[in-house]
Amino acid sequence: MRFIFYVLSLVLALCLASADPRITLHGMVRSDERIRSHGYPAETHEVVTEDGYVLTLFRIPYSHKLNNKSQKRPPVLLQHGLFSNSDCWLSSGPDNSLAYLLADAGYDVWLGNARGNIYSRANEIISLNNPKFWHFDWHEIGTIDIAAMIDYILDETQYKQLHYAGHSQGTTVYLVLMSERPEYNEKIKSGHLLAPCAFFEHGKSPIFRWLGPLVGTPGGVWNQLLVDTELIPYNNIVNRLADNGCGSGSPYDSICKNGFLMFANGGYENINLTSMQILIETHPAGSSSNQGIHYLQLYASHEFRQYDWGSKKNRELYGQDLPPDYDLSKITANTHSYSSQNDALCGPKDVDTLVSQFVHLSEDHRVPWSSFNHLDFIVAKNMKELVNDLVVERINSYEGR
Ligand SMILES: *[C@@H]1O[C@H](CO)[C@@H](O)[C@H](O)[C@H]1NC(C)=O
Ligand SMILES: *[C@@H]1O[C@H](CO)[C@@H](O)[C@H](O)[C@H]1NC(C)=O
Repeated sequence: MRFIFYVLSLVLALCLASADPRITLHGMVRSDERIRSHGYPAETHEVVTEDGYVLTLFRIPYSHKLNNKSQKRPPVLLQHGLFSNSDCWLSSGPDNSLAYLLADAGYDVWLGNARGNIYSRANEIISLNNPKFWHFDWHEIGTIDIAAMIDYILDETQYKQLHYAGHSQGTTVYLVLMSERPEYNEKIKSGHLLAPCAFFEHGKSPIFRWLGPLVGTPGGVWNQLLVDTELIPYNNIVNRLADNGCGSGSPYDSICKNGFLMFANGGYENINLTSMQILIETHPAGSSSNQGIHYLQLYASHEFRQYDWGSKKNRELYGQDLPPDYDLSKITANTHSYSSQNDALCGPKDVDTLVSQFVHLSEDHRVPWSSFNHLDFIVAKNMKELVNDLVVERINSYEGR
């Protein structure tokens, strides 16, 4: 078990050392191709943010299974988690994955990709080779990227509001945007947070125990070393390790199983291995080290607050020694939370804290399946019955369906 993490740390170090921004995605199936391979129409859109990042949005404008394609259908935006990308909403196929289920239910489905991931690796002002490219974390993904995606979709579809669903970091960025730019609450018809992540006081994942003390507080040498770099870029080493490790019956199967201890308190019995294999093709998808550091800071501080740059820079940036908290009481959009017992990253006690501060939360749903974990919201064999059907049902209710 310990050995596995030494190996993973070594791989991480190798990746950081060998980060080559000119990655090629040979042999990989993009989200739009994957959608078309199942018979659905797919579109690719590019959104340029105010600070120059070029973000790719994939779209399933309608389902070929319904005979009403010219009808107007309400837009839904789906936003992936850390190290992930739009493929996470597709990997379990049309019978299970949320993107297809929503298209079949008569929605116009948009799949976001945050700055820095394999589909959003360009900036019109800053070169990918410049460390400044990686000078962001999920605060900017929330306040800038998600805001830009929402505005773009509403403009394209001529709707005044959309539905939003996010997984993991996709929930954090929603909380950040809705609390920091409250005017965006009016643009949300309903929000759905799968495995919501804001507080990490009780995080059980070994990742916290291992890395929390090293990078969870500003100013440390590790922090200096890691800030503003690409974290776990998509590359062949990680990819091959994961691929070999997660094939059913492969000799490295234990690497895969133990890897999942990052997300669950033991076991991965719900996982759909075929879906996982598909995900591994395009994961880990690339992110800034600051995103990980910021999460570890939350683990260390027990607060849901902005990036901690150390008191000197904090005073310059925020006008105070400590970073300001995100004020969850400002979130007024209809929001539903779906969390699970066996989530080692964003577990039940931390969800309790979130719920207690999120005064306008519409629903606090706990998935009634004791082994359901953080990743299961994306790859479990039973996620349709336990989660996705509920999300579609809730969204329908806002549309009077
Ligand atoms: C598992 O994933 C595969 C690959 O996408 C999919 O075809 C299959 O329907 C999934 N099964 C379940 C039960 O999720
Ligand atoms: C399209 O038809 C399906 C049933 O055939 C229905 O459930 C859905 O609501 C319709 N879509 C729209 C946008 O009206």
